[in-house]
Amino acid sequence: MKTFDNAILITGGAGFIGSHVVRLFVNKYPDTLIINLDKLTYAGNLENLTDIEDKKNYLFVKGDIMDEKLVISLFEQHPVTGVIHLAAESHVDRSITNPLEFIGTNVIGTVTLLNACRDHWKNNFKGKCFYQISTDEVYGSLGPEGYFTEDTPYDPQSPYSASKAGADHFVRAYGNTYNLPFLITNCSNNYGPNQFPEKLIPLTINNILHNRLIPVYGKGENIRDWLYVVDHARAIDLVYHKGDKGETYNIGGNNEWKNINLVYQLCDITDKLLGRAAGTSHKLITFVKDRAGHDLRYAIDSSKIRNTLGWMPETSFEEGLTKTIQWYLDHQDWLHHVLTGEYEKYYEQQYLKR
Ligand code: NAD
Ligand code: DAU
Repeated sequence: MKTFDNAILITGGAGFIGSHVVRLFVNKYPDTLIINLDKLTYAGNLENLTDIEDKKNYLFVKGDIMDEKLVISLFEQHPVTGVIHLAAESHVDRSITNPLEFIGTNVIGTVTLLNACRDHWKNNFKGKCFYQISTDEVYGSLGPEGYFTEDTPYDPQSPYSASKAGADHFVRAYGNTYNLPFLITNCSNNYGPNQFPEKLIPLTINNILHNRLIPVYGKGENIRDWLYVVDHARAIDLVYHKGDKGETYNIGGNNEWKNINLVYQLCDITDKLLGRAAGTSHKLITFVKDRAGHDLRYAIDSSKIRNTLGWMPETSFEEGLTKTIQWYLDHQDWLHHVLTGEYEKYYEQQYLKR
């Protein structure tokens, strides 16, 4: 068995963004052990990582970030020098139904990880880092003008964004109080392969495929700034390795879309890829009751990461959307598995019988 003198603990690596980050790090850093700690909630799916699961520098651990004993044991067993923290309850609608679950994972889970870093790294913080993956939603909602910068005051408007803001505050507080080296990035809406089909883009694609109504909240006037997930993973790699400790970087696609226009675009590309007549799926679009407290607009000013670290999105929206839609069309078994919970069988087969 290969031994490693450096390990990075990635939390939530079986989820949407986490799986792209784990893949990038496992392939790019073969001499670093990449530990993926994930509870495998409904949103975590090991089928996202079948291509790298047998790599020597990859270790999957099923567990909860709130499980203090487990988290400490990972630090004791492996030379963890960095934590890249993605595990979260991430869906705004679910946070409106069940806020407490979000406080558990997003706040208490984050503090559990911070305690482990503080206590295990103690007075030897050199070369160590806790990297918090956060969201633009902590800044609140924009009107028609302006952008979120790193200096925009926090003003979270949903239980989800309040829990992420709480977690970010704890990260900064641990930096200030215990000198724990940290990084925080706040990213805009991601899209791409492997996103659970409760979020707007994969939900719309799935509904088009099955000729189901496409629910558009309110009048569809809300605006989001979309970024291809692989570009986000590249930004995370860059910030982790080159970012200045204690700094915050905003990450965004500079790519704003009104929901209704995006849904039309999704209908048009999907119909074309399916060989259906242009406009076939427009009839599925249905305006439904608005989300409670629905943020109007998010838009990121990402000039800091562009100017200081040289990051830029590489995937145009048209290319990214086409790739994403094609991925869902080619992976209808994946969609079926995550929607029926069949991936749990995969976990049992793959990991419990070893
Ligand atoms: P996701 O819901 O797809 O995945 C979350 C992952 O965390 C899942 O694998 C789940 O099993 C795991 N998890 C949940 N609770 C856990 C717990 N208690 N212990 C261990 N693992 C647990 O989320 P995502 O969309 O990939 O988002 C990842 C991170 O990026 C989140 O922190 C989110 O706030 C942030 N973010 C997301 C977006 C976006 O557009 N999706 C944008 C900016 C920031
Ligand atoms: O901005 C970053 C955030 O983006 C992340 O922090 C969150 O984890 C992620 O879920 C996402 O939040 P949103 O609420 O913006 O994403 P969602 O896909 O749920 O919704 C996008 C927009 O589409 C939003 O204005 C609500 C609307 N919507 C959503 C759904 C699911 C609809 O109109 N109909 C729907 O069925």
